[in-house]
Amino acid sequence: MTSRYQDIHAAWRSDPFGFWLEAAKGLDWTTPPTTAFDAGAGVYGRWFPDGELNTCHNAVDRHVASGRGEQAAIIHDSPVTGTGRTITYGELLAEVKALALTLTEFGVGKGDRVIVYMPMIPEAIFAMLACARIGAIHSVVFGGFAAKELAARIDDAVPKLILSASCGIEPARKVEYKPLLDKAIELAAHKPDAVILKQRPQLTASLVEGRDFDWEALRGKAMAKLEAGAQSPCVPVKATDPLYVLYTSGTTGKPKGVVRDNGGHAVSLHWSLKNIFDTDAGETFFCASDVGWVVGHCYIVYAPLIRGATSILFEGKPIGTPDAGTYWRVVAEHGAKVLFTAPTAIRGIRKEDPDGEMPKRYDLSKFSALFLAGERADPETIIWAEKALDRPVIDHWWQTESGWPMAANPLGLGLLPIKRGSPTVAMPGFDITILDPMGTPVAANEMGAIAVKLPLPPGALPTLWNADDRFRESYLTEFPGYYSTSDAGFLDEDGYLYVMGRTDDVINVAGHRLSTGEMEEAVGSHPAVAECAVIGMHDDLKGEIPCGFVVLKKGAGLDRREIEADLVRIVREQIGPVAAFRQVLVVDRLPKTRSGKILRRTIKAIVDDKPFDVPATIEDPAALDEIRAIVASR
Ligand code: COA
Ligand code: AMP
Repeated sequence: MTSRYQDIHAAWRSDPFGFWLEAAKGLDWTTPPTTAFDAGAGVYGRWFPDGELNTCHNAVDRHVASGRGEQAAIIHDSPVTGTGRTITYGELLAEVKALALTLTEFGVGKGDRVIVYMPMIPEAIFAMLACARIGAIHSVVFGGFAAKELAARIDDAVPKLILSASCGIEPARKVEYKPLLDKAIELAAHKPDAVILKQRPQLTASLVEGRDFDWEALRGKAMAKLEAGAQSPCVPVKATDPLYVLYTSGTTGKPKGVVRDNGGHAVSLHWSLKNIFDTDAGETFFCASDVGWVVGHCYIVYAPLIRGATSILFEGKPIGTPDAGTYWRVVAEHGAKVLFTAPTAIRGIRKEDPDGEMPKRYDLSKFSALFLAGERADPETIIWAEKALDRPVIDHWWQTESGWPMAANPLGLGLLPIKRGSPTVAMPGFDITILDPMGTPVAANEMGAIAVKLPLPPGALPTLWNADDRFRESYLTEFPGYYSTSDAGFLDEDGYLYVMGRTDDVINVAGHRLSTGEMEEAVGSHPAVAECAVIGMHDDLKGEIPCGFVVLKKGAGLDRREIEADLVRIVREQIGPVAAFRQVLVVDRLPKTRSGKILRRTIKAIVDDKPFDVPATIEDPAALDEIRAIVASR
């Protein structure tokens, strides 16, 4: 089959605004947009400025109204608890109405923020949709973050209410959410009015009198009220009103609150699920991420539901729950058409099942392709998966900020030839350009900064939460007229993109986006630490893992090993276990330039055993020898 990509891309190029107005017709609008884009609004313009809609209506109500009430909306598959549950669109509507009614009774309304700190259970999805239903703005916080991280998000988002659960289940332990939540509320300057907590059968958490409320008790009351005729309507909001704020790592300790609006978000996900992922109403999509990440927001929750598909909510790991065949079992059992995961998960599976025996045990007849994103998909992993699955393995590239793939091989439009190591080509809306440091586009095959010409398409961030200036400084100032992605790479002569790595302090640990700058702040908070550098070190499974180098204050007096153990504990306590910060080495000095800049890239090259040039501006070359020696001895 020849790909329709070129035609679709040309159609977008010739009339970008008409293209998205046409795509917007796939949704229900209370006021359909007549204008695609207002260049004078917001920081760089706003999409669908005169449109009004409700995202929950588009994800739930309209499918029930069109006869999909009996179709599965969500399949919760939870090998870590040994349970499973299928929720039809009709049931989903009832749950979301009940929770939305409860939220309004707590005084939550349009524009109010609600933090969702929950594991991979259906209630997390009910929570997001209930907020969307009443025009409230949700901010989901990943369960692997520590109390301090949660507190930072509470203070930035200033939520009226927090929705949480008693525990998450990791293969080796229960993650008690409530003590983390209590601690976060204690640390935060802002205090939410209330907490609604889902008690899971695996653990009952204690509730704070007057502040905390039992989810099930409130659900029961709301269901009874709905049965007695109470209404829980969808509140129309402007297309430009925020649907959610999702915090992501930047260069500093203060996470960035990426804002997603209602209209552009719905249009981009409705378009992309069909055209990129080739999944439509009635088909089943399996995105094995977490609702706490952008991938989970978009392709576990909103895209499949907005399209009327069935979404699998998987509570488990690619390996060890119980084995490396879990993903293939889920695909087979629920008839998933597409699996979307991170390369690290496939590397984990490959390690356990090098000959690709596990997929053969399952009926994968409905399965059409494996999509990978979140970090670079290395060709060896792609080759293993292609062989084991006998299906296309599709790398695609995006960010929390972009909201949907900027570059992909669009299965729904017909695949383009696959070039392993490349996430293929720019999607309509993303005018990807490679720039030199002066902001001039470079020739094909030349490395540079990956930038996207403004305006960004529907679905991409319009700004950061309450921080237009930070948005401008972080993304729009380096290359005027462009959004700077902080990724480096090149476009080849066929327009295929190659993403080679970040240009800032962000590292990708097992597909989780983390900031080394933030880890340095945590490490630097230890009283014995004079200065430190944290770099991302290559790891065969997780892609990268953090590694810290610290210089101690004179006379710190403590045992080096003790301090190293302390620092590991501090990062775990302040950022969370997901940081996987386990390596830290005490050195006498850090290699620096004469102006005092720590040579992090050079340290990284030494740790990864890669060639490097000793910078001409180095202050003391002997500092590199010490790093070399200490790395070699470990
Ligand atoms: N809640 C609480 N803790 C969590 C958590 C969550 N939702 N997710 C991870 N953690 C904890 C883990 O329990 C672990 O803690 P530990 O130090 O006590 O063992 C730590 O964070 C690191 O976890 P993880 O990154 O999952 O690494 P792992 O070594 O346990 O497993 C993989 C390795 C490759 C199997 C795993 O990283 C994985 O499944 N990766 C895929 C990630 C993914 O899909 N990302 C989505 C991006 S698209
Ligand atoms: P996140 O915001 O968590 O989605 O992380 C975004 C970052 O992950 C990007 O800026 C890239 O550095 C990296 N990334 C995501 N997908 C890919 C990919 N397919 N190839 C290379 N890097 C990727």
